[in-house]
Amino acid sequence: MLSDHSSQPANSDARVLMAPSILSADFLNLGEDVAKVAPTADFIHVDVMDGHFTPNLTIGPAFVESLKRSFNVRLDVHLMVDNPEQTVDWYLDRGADLVTVHLEALTHANRVLSHIRERGALAGVAVNPATPICLLREVVQIADLILVMSVNPGFGGQSFIPTTLRRLDELCALCDDMQSHPLIEVDGGINTTTAPDVVSHGARVLVAGSAVFGADDPEHAMESIRRAGEGA
Ligand code: DX5
Ligand code: ZN
Repeated sequence: MLSDHSSQPANSDARVLMAPSILSADFLNLGEDVAKVAPTADFIHVDVMDGHFTPNLTIGPAFVESLKRSFNVRLDVHLMVDNPEQTVDWYLDRGADLVTVHLEALTHANRVLSHIRERGALAGVAVNPATPICLLREVVQIADLILVMSVNPGFGGQSFIPTTLRRLDELCALCDDMQSHPLIEVDGGINTTTAPDVVSHGARVLVAGSAVFGADDPEHAMESIRRAGEGA
């Protein structure tokens, strides 16, 4: 199991987990692009956007089902949607291994996270760059993963927001205080330059889209980011 509740802080394990985001892949050749990273990726990160929570619209459950059928890789489904309570089962039914919902979109966080876990998947909670970290206090004990957004959700290729590092420090302190250590994931503007910074501030799962799929050799680019993080 990937999460390490109540044991050591998540970043005490040196291994950095890579979750390439298919948002920056070529959607007309998605299978070919995913095949380049699937053998060594820890997750494939699937960005679901609804045009309401985010100013962009992407893909839905049919893609998750096809990815699951075609590749032997864990799927990290990042739901950037309003009312995720109504749609988490679409993704759980189709084989999502990790489902992350945004705190800003949740009315009943405890209920949704418990439901995801009861369905046998890992439960993640994401926070946007302007959402106070202290609002996570009551969920760190019931989440397998906390996703700290390092860009405003909606698009690939944006620049890393530097205040993310202070926010990661706050989250680590909060987790210590609550004696619970979910995995910490960071998403947005991650590359070989920013990876060492976020890992040294507690991140263990790195999402990278444009830095992976914008490269000539996505698998090499992904492993370079992992190594940069592990050298932190
Ligand atoms: C942004 C998405 C990210 C995006 C990251 O809303 O959640 O997963 O694909 O893309 P890069 O790595 O290009 O910033
Ligand atoms: Zn994402």
